[in-house]
Amino acid sequence: MRLSVKRAVVLLLMLFGACTLTRTLYEVLTCPGEVPRTHMVSIRARNWNQTQYRYNQNTPMVFVGGVPRSGTTLMRAMLDAHPDIRCGEETRVIPRILSLRQGWGRQTEERWALEDEGVSQEMLDAATRAFLLEVIARHGDPAPLLCNKDPFTLKSAVYLSHIFPNSKFLLMLRDGRASVHSMISRRVTIAGFNLSSYRDCLTKWSNAIEVMLSQCMAVGRSRCMTIRYEDLVLQPRATMRRVLRFLKSPWHEGVLHHEEAIGQPGGVSLSRSERSTDQVIKPVNLEALTRWVGHIPADVQQDMENIAPMLRKLGYNPKANPPDYGQPDPEVINNTERVLRGDFKTPMRLKRLVQVSASFNVFKA
Ligand SMILES: *[C@@H]1O[C@H](CO)[C@@H](O)[C@H](O)[C@H]1NC(C)=O
Ligand SMILES: *[C@@H]1O[C@H](CO)[C@@H](O)[C@H](O)[C@H]1NC(C)=O
Ligand SMILES: *[C@@H]1O[C@H](CO)[C@@H](O)[C@H](O)[C@H]1NC(C)=O
Repeated sequence: MRLSVKRAVVLLLMLFGACTLTRTLYEVLTCPGEVPRTHMVSIRARNWNQTQYRYNQNTPMVFVGGVPRSGTTLMRAMLDAHPDIRCGEETRVIPRILSLRQGWGRQTEERWALEDEGVSQEMLDAATRAFLLEVIARHGDPAPLLCNKDPFTLKSAVYLSHIFPNSKFLLMLRDGRASVHSMISRRVTIAGFNLSSYRDCLTKWSNAIEVMLSQCMAVGRSRCMTIRYEDLVLQPRATMRRVLRFLKSPWHEGVLHHEEAIGQPGGVSLSRSERSTDQVIKPVNLEALTRWVGHIPADVQQDMENIAPMLRKLGYNPKANPPDYGQPDPEVINNTERVLRGDFKTPMRLKRLVQVSASFNVFKA
């Protein structure tokens, strides 16, 4: 009896000693007062077929962007039709977080105040990375290659290329007159664009695409590729071959028939709030290519070169209305004839999607 009491006391003392030692060691190792090292966030998710995927900052991923109304939705739907790629709906929150993060990084009072308060740039990077990863990984079915499409993210391509070292970028380019006509005629609200003025929208288009293109060039050809909307709809096969080669994904015929994969498991998912949904439910066709012709006010057309200098830089003749965009593939001509004849009917299950609510879609630049 006495022996076991003694043993119990010894045991308790030893436990106490061990605890104290551990705490001291912990405090020494974590160095109170210094910023703790950030750890790597890893996300696990299962797809509809119970296959498990893991994502972290080193996972390859793709960012699709461009000025709104430049074919970003078509590109993402075509990629989404690939069984190895998930390229879902816009998240809206990602460009907003990126613009906040950019604000905290500028050489301003706010940045110095944050650093005084122990909020370092490295911590903000880690937090931004974790936020983006969470949203990108979880807002749709997991897949071997994740893709995010929020048009304005390409304004932050250089930053994204740092926080996700294996990411790639697809920048959609389109004749600005067509993008602007589309945003004006479809009343697609974009922060800072005055939809009552072709002149204002073309100026803003030119500025926005200039920023995105310079970001893309700074990221470099190995990680950022530009794709013309016109090439995508005129020669979808050759264009998508180029895109998939760039992404190191195998060729898949399904990307040319994205409309057939809509709503299928592992296929294309669409949202009611994306303004292009009523267009991408159709096969790739030429309907939207030159719809802008005849809608641009004469004074704006005359001054086009000065209003939108990026037109010429991107190879769109500002004096031609319209310029020659190239020759369509026979399969695209066939699709266009089917669409114009009305042979292509919206499947019943997709009717719900097409009743778009205008108030949903506000782009925040
Ligand atoms: C589902 O996963 C199993 C293995 O996990 C695989 O053999 C099967 O082909 C998958 N089915 C589809 C349709 O991908
Ligand atoms: C938008 O453009 C129209 C037409 O030029 C102009 O009358 C209006 O004042 C502009 N609105 C804003 C907010 O600048
Ligand atoms: C046009 O497309 C339809 C549907 O994909 C196909 O059945 C038809 O054979 C095509 N016609 C031509 C001339 O390619």
